[in-house]
Amino acid sequence: MVVIVVVGGFFGDEGKGGVVGYLSINDNPSICVRGGVGPNAGHTVVYNGQEYKLRQIPSGLINKECRLLIGPGVLVNPDVLLGEIDRYSVDRDRVGVDKNTGIIENIHIDRERQSTHLREKIGSTLTGCGEANVDRVKRRLRLAAELDLLKDFITDVPAEIWGAIDSRKTVIVEGTQGTFLSLFHGTYPYVTSKDVTAGSICSDVGIGPTDVDDVIVVFKSYVTRVGTGPLPNELTIEEIKERGWVEYGTVTGRPRRAAPFNFELAKRAVRLNGATQIALTKLDVLYPKVAHVRDWSELTQEAKEFVLEIERTLGVPVTIIRTGPDVKDTIDRR
Ligand code: GTP
Ligand code: IMP
Ligand code: MG
Repeated sequence: MVVIVVVGGFFGDEGKGGVVGYLSINDNPSICVRGGVGPNAGHTVVYNGQEYKLRQIPSGLINKECRLLIGPGVLVNPDVLLGEIDRYSVDRDRVGVDKNTGIIENIHIDRERQSTHLREKIGSTLTGCGEANVDRVKRRLRLAAELDLLKDFITDVPAEIWGAIDSRKTVIVEGTQGTFLSLFHGTYPYVTSKDVTAGSICSDVGIGPTDVDDVIVVFKSYVTRVGTGPLPNELTIEEIKERGWVEYGTVTGRPRRAAPFNFELAKRAVRLNGATQIALTKLDVLYPKVAHVRDWSELTQEAKEFVLEIERTLGVPVTIIRTGPDVKDTIDRR
């Protein structure tokens, strides 16, 4: 009976996949819909011993009753989408792509690969997203409705969501990337090719701000960043290894840069997204003793104090805490 928007609060890879996966099982939404840029994003969901790496399909795929939609503001690479449907044996009837969703073609990927600016200065994922958005702005990008390959999936995503809202069902809107990769609010020019804060994510799927009940901003217990661009208090590779914070990008496999939790950035992300709740991920990486804890009372005092400090400083409740890779490794304080 609620519309929840989930967005990243730092530089992407905050663990949104696990949070949306948890909500998809626990809140039993009728729709999980993806906003954001496109297949430059990678979300990881672990459920019942299986790991899903998703660049196009929403993380709600683990709940078989949930319809999986991609909004008109998102870009689709048909090879990537169809590959995921095959790899994870997703029932094709569950998947819907809006008729106005833009299509990434080889030409966009080629243009990005040839750009030293994108490759070396920006550290782009070179997945064709930025160049496809250029063509969309020039009004020459092909849309999903024009593609025979996608004809079985074409739908009116906004209308499906309004239908679910009118029948008082739950809808999860999954954002991608993170607040400081936003074209408008991020560390320009080291950003992605559009805005990715909650307002834009709503627009990507076709709902207005008044339709939204909750905006959950996801923060990891430390900050990571792939690609170039500023990262305040960045640690050296040795320090990252010592702390056990080593991570690799889901899409590109590049090592992620890391820094301690950044309260100033988090404060700004709360305002830029209008956060009503915070999800905090990888608390177990910071405090190994809390691994797989699923109840607040079982957290160590040190871990509790970190969570309470976040609530005090940001003025927003930390309602979801993740303590392990599995969707079930979650403390729900809502
Ligand atoms: P988004 O792009 O925000 O969805 O994040 P991501 O999926 O790219 O996150 P990441 O690549 O950091 O996830 C890498 C691995 O961490 C995956 O195997 C996840 O299942 C796992 N993971 C997610 N949340 C947690 C957590 O709270 N604790 C631990 N230990 N692992 C987690
Ligand atoms: P592009 O959007 O692929 O052109 O990449 C532009 C910048 O955003 C690069 O620094 C990428 O590493 C970063 N980026 C884009 N998508 C993601 C994501 O999902 N997670 C983390 N970084 C991303
Ligand atoms: Mg990711």
